[in-house]
Amino acid sequence: MRLSDEEKAMRDGRDGAAVARAMDLLVRYGEALGAESLVETRNVCGTVTATTPFMRDFALAKGGLDAVFSEFNLDSAEVVETPRVRAFSSHLQLGFDPHHPVEMGVSEQVVEFYRRSEAAAARMGVQILNTCTPYQVGNVPTRGEHCAWMESSAVIYINSVLGARTNAEGRESTSAAMLTCRIPNWGYHLDAGRRGTHGIELDMPVETVEDWGLLGYWIGDWVQDRVPVVRGIGAVPNLPKLKHFGAAASSSGGVEMYHLVGVTPEAGSWEQAFGTNRPAEVRRYGARERAQTLERINAMGQDRQVDYVMLGCPHYTIEQIWEAAMLLEGRRVHANCALWIFTPRAIKALADRNGYTAIIETAGGKIMTDSCSAMSRAVPPGTRVVALDSVKQAHYLPAILGVQAWFGTTAQCIDAACTGHWSGA
Ligand code: F3S
Repeated sequence: MRLSDEEKAMRDGRDGAAVARAMDLLVRYGEALGAESLVETRNVCGTVTATTPFMRDFALAKGGLDAVFSEFNLDSAEVVETPRVRAFSSHLQLGFDPHHPVEMGVSEQVVEFYRRSEAAAARMGVQILNTCTPYQVGNVPTRGEHCAWMESSAVIYINSVLGARTNAEGRESTSAAMLTCRIPNWGYHLDAGRRGTHGIELDMPVETVEDWGLLGYWIGDWVQDRVPVVRGIGAVPNLPKLKHFGAAASSSGGVEMYHLVGVTPEAGSWEQAFGTNRPAEVRRYGARERAQTLERINAMGQDRQVDYVMLGCPHYTIEQIWEAAMLLEGRRVHANCALWIFTPRAIKALADRNGYTAIIETAGGKIMTDSCSAMSRAVPPGTRVVALDSVKQAHYLPAILGVQAWFGTTAQCIDAACTGHWSGA
């Protein structure tokens, strides 16, 4: 790999041991990927805090949080002092919501350890956004901006909707990027990696959040990790629809970038989206494909008595919380059911101010932050059947927790929460 003089100096220890370890890690990682150089990044989203009992024991045994950062973030057995970050860095979601330890099934000791590590991360200069949707709470990359982000639903959103450039990174590479402002220059950082490979012609309008989730799931299942180009969009989708679409495509497949002709920034036309590529294949999507996808996702649902409704995957926007609050106002969550809604901390603060939290809590629901049921593996005790308005969560939750899952609209989910019964498809 070609390194600049600045990068060589970092590797050789000019800026201290942690930066040297970070640069060494990036060079090893980049060479394994076939990257010829590093690219400068000033925008990183990753995971720095320590959240597991194992990490707590590790810190106790090895002498504190520097040991955790060295081992789990820099791949360094030698303990090095953790410096401040150089890149603007944001923290992604966690394995639990520290404000709801009982619901999440985590001990007070683990929460207390987490709080210490969150304070340490903040001192490092990491923004404690604690969400899978940093792009809705203060980290909005611009078109062409090179980033180093983890979290598949966020990666696909910023690549496709915002035109920023990132690969799906990991804990170690993002931590190294935070300290060096560098990441290997390959994949979606390069023009060639961003061109479309497969085409989809729409034979039906795709309008609701549910429609967009089903289309994303169908596309991801087909193209896997290639770059789909979709033509025939009617009404321009808003943020919740695109968030949901990308999350679905990145869970049934490994899609990290898509183009919607006439909507996303690098797809002014079908031809522009493919660039010098020829479509490997073009397929049509219509009512039959939609119905088959819905049937497939709901194959995990059998019993219609619902124990738990989870909303907020990816984390809800303020618009979605408003919608849920309006659907719930004046109603009660059924005695045999629970309703949890997940959102970023910053949006929870807004929901508190706007009175939506009060409406949701008065109805018997809860707003949580920092995590979700799939990440935390936490559902209300005794849950057997779940209702969801997220294809991504419907894809993962049955596999992770062995529960049955129904997928449908937000209104159907709120009805299920209030009646304890699934009346959707
Ligand atoms: Fe976010 Fe959890 Fe879904 S972290 S994207 S809400 S699986």
